[in-house]
Amino acid sequence: MSSTGSRPPRLKDFLETTFANAGGSLSFERFMELALYDPQFGYYSANIADVGGERADFSTWATLADLGTPLANWIRKEIPTVDWNRQKPNLIEIGAGDGSLAAGILKQFGWLERRKLNYHIVDRSGPLREKQRQKLKGKSVSWHESMQSALAACDGRAIIFSNELVDAFPAIWLRWNGGNWEEIYVNFSPEKGLGESFVAIDIEIDWETPPPGQRVEFHRSYFDWQNGWLPDFKCGSILTIDYGDSGTEKIYRNRRNGTLRGYHRQQRIEGPGVYQRFGKQDLTADVDFAELIRHGEWSGLETVKLENQRQFLERFGTGRVISDEAAEAFQVLHQKKLLVENS
Ligand SMILES: C[S@@+](CC[C@H](N)C(=O)[O-])C[C@H]1O[C@@H](n2cnc3c(N)ncnc32)[C@H](O)[C@@H]1O
Repeated sequence: MSSTGSRPPRLKDFLETTFANAGGSLSFERFMELALYDPQFGYYSANIADVGGERADFSTWATLADLGTPLANWIRKEIPTVDWNRQKPNLIEIGAGDGSLAAGILKQFGWLERRKLNYHIVDRSGPLREKQRQKLKGKSVSWHESMQSALAACDGRAIIFSNELVDAFPAIWLRWNGGNWEEIYVNFSPEKGLGESFVAIDIEIDWETPPPGQRVEFHRSYFDWQNGWLPDFKCGSILTIDYGDSGTEKIYRNRRNGTLRGYHRQQRIEGPGVYQRFGKQDLTADVDFAELIRHGEWSGLETVKLENQRQFLERFGTGRVISDEAAEAFQVLHQKKLLVENS
């Protein structure tokens, strides 16, 4: 007897068709985009079970410690600095994970204060938006599909923040061959599976003499995404928290293979392991905050401050860091956009 329903697509068929349609190879950036965000097979779009906790592949500052208290203190200080045009202050959290940070911030604000502001979440992941809805049940929170629609709901005036968002954007992956930079491509054949190839690329990387074989990543897709909504942002503040450092040499010294890695069941996976478990593991890379600052200033954002976790917590939190390693690894970037006449 034959079934009338169509067979659900299999991962193997999906990979074969995708690579065949692309002529046999994809840039690593495109591969990472599909592995994380393909609607049917992507890690964040289809497979993520949780952030933090027993079922999760990774934990974050928001799920490991109280990030809500320092963020709420920072937000309280920022609210009076924004021209709200007589509207309620708008908070936009981008990439809210399991909703822990939103819950922590809203708890700090109390009932009356909460009524005097709007809390918006923008998240690309369907399973995580569902988790957030469960965790934030009964709280007045609005969800948006895109930053453009969140900003439209705020008349372009907002305090925007994210924790470990930039590192979840697809990165281009480069290798220094001793004389030039090459972009890493991913090949697939049903017989051999996934492998790498290298294609010359004309790109300026701020590092004069990297060792041969050195790999670096660049979050180009984050800047393209920001370019899509920054014109709709009239005024307010942006706080970006992530792991990384400032400048290529600082980030990659003694990390010849770059920082690209996977996380599966709380295990860190490096090297060829990043190509395994397509859509079943997180993929991520350290963030270059010098690039965030450069792109922000080029786009009309003012840089207010870049500091690490320890310094941020000393100013806004309890002063307790998650660990000495995290205190140095996590950076906090504060940017601002001032209202321009006639906007
Ligand atoms: C590494 S998780 C961090 C989650 C949370 N902020 C935390 O600290 O626990 C990355 C988050 O960013 C979201 N995300 C990734 N790309 C996004 C995009 N383009 N727009 C909105 N959210 C995005 C993911 O769905 C996920 O919620």
